[in-house]
Amino acid sequence: MQKNILIGVTGGIAAYKVVEVASRLKKSGANVKIIMTKHATEFVSPRTFQEITNNAVSVEMFGDAANFIHVEHISLADWADFMLIAPATANFLAKTAHGIADDLLTTTILAFDKKILVCPSMNTKMFENPATQANLSTLKARGIKILEPASGNLACGTSGKGRLPEPTEICAEIEKILSEEKILSGKKILVTAGGTVEAIDPVRYIGNRSSGRMGFEIAKVAVNFGAEVVLISGKSELEPPKNLEFIKVEAATEMREAILKHFDSVDSVIMSAAVADYRIKTPSAQKIKKSDENLTLELVKNPDILKELGGLKKNQILIGFAAETQNILEYANKKLVEKNLNFIVANDVTAEGAGFGVSTNIASIIWRNGRVESFEKMSKAALAEKIIERVANLLNR
Ligand code: CTP
Repeated sequence: MQKNILIGVTGGIAAYKVVEVASRLKKSGANVKIIMTKHATEFVSPRTFQEITNNAVSVEMFGDAANFIHVEHISLADWADFMLIAPATANFLAKTAHGIADDLLTTTILAFDKKILVCPSMNTKMFENPATQANLSTLKARGIKILEPASGNLACGTSGKGRLPEPTEICAEIEKILSEEKILSGKKILVTAGGTVEAIDPVRYIGNRSSGRMGFEIAKVAVNFGAEVVLISGKSELEPPKNLEFIKVEAATEMREAILKHFDSVDSVIMSAAVADYRIKTPSAQKIKKSDENLTLELVKNPDILKELGGLKKNQILIGFAAETQNILEYANKKLVEKNLNFIVANDVTAEGAGFGVSTNIASIIWRNGRVESFEKMSKAALAEKIIERVANLLNR
C-alpha cells in the first residue's frame, strides 16, 4: 500500500493497540505520520510512535512551523491520502461533529477532504449515550467511515460494546476502503518492463541494466486501480505481479510482435521497457569459440517500437520513458514529439537515488504543451501511482 496515512490518536487506553496498527501499515509500504492529542500522550509516548513510523509525531498546534511549507494542520492534511482516527474518544467525536477545531487533530481533520476512518473506543454507556450516537450519525452522513467497536471486557472494569477492534481488523478495513479507488475499471492497459536480450550466440547476449522494477510497479498500480493489465517483460529477476496477463519476451523484435498483437485492444500503452536500439546482425547458431585477439560483432538497428505505435495510434494514450545521462529535458522532449506520446517520464539515470536497480526514482513528467512536473525523490511505487493517476485522468476525460 503506497499511501500517505495520517493517524490521529486520541486519549483512550486502546492507544497502545494503534502502535501495532502503525507498524503494520508501515510494513505494508505506507508512509505513516501521527498526530496525538495531549491526552493521548498520557497513554503512549510520542517517542514510541516516532520510532515505529520513522517520522516526527505532532502534538502541538503551534509546534515547529519552520519545517512546513504551510502551517502544520494544512500541510499534514495536504500530505495525507487517508486519515485514520483510533482510538476516537467521545470527546473527539463530539468536537468533530460540530466542527470544533481547538487542537492540532481536530483542526487538521477540518482541513482534510479525503477518506477518513474513525474507530470509536470507550465505555459502553458513553458509546450508547444518545449524544455520542447522534455525533456518529452526523459523521457518517458526511461520508466519514465508522468502524464499530467490538464487544468484550473494557478497561473500566465493565464488559460490553466499546473495545477498539484488533489491529488486523483495522488494517483490513483501511485496505478495503483504499481499494475502492477503481478509477481504471473497464480500461485495458499494456505495460512493458525490463530490458531486452539480444542474442550473440546460444550462451551470450547484449543486455542492459534495467531491473524491470518501474514497469512492474506501474502494472501493479494499474491492477489495483481496476484495469485489465497486460505486462510484457524483457529480462527481470522480479516476481511477476498477480492478477494480470504476464508475457515474457527476450529480443526487441519479439517484444514488438507481442505488443502489436495487443495494441488494437488496449486503451493505453506505458512503455517503460529498456529496448535495445541494436541487435546482432547474425547471431551464431553455435557458441563462438575464442580465436583472434579482436572480435567484431556487427549490429543492426532494432525497430523503434514506441515510434511505430505513435504512428499507428487511434485513441490510445501513449506514455514513454526517457532515461538520460545529460540534457534530460531537451532529449526527452524530442522523444515526446517524435514518438507522438501524450507525456514522457524523464529521468537522469546517473543521479543518486534514480535509474537502474534502485527502488527510488527522481523523475519529471513532460507534457505536449511544454508543462513540466518535477517530482522529488520517491519510491518507484509512488511514481507509478503518479503516472497511473495521470493516465486515468486522460482516459476518463
Ligand atoms: N523505445 C522503443 N523502441 C526502441 C527504443 C526505445 O519502444 N527501439 C521506447 C522506450 O521503451 C522508451 C522510449 O522509447 O519508452 C525512449 O527510449 P530511449 O532508449 O530513452 O530512447 P531512444 O529513442 O532509444 O533514443 P536514444 O537511445 O538515442 O536516447
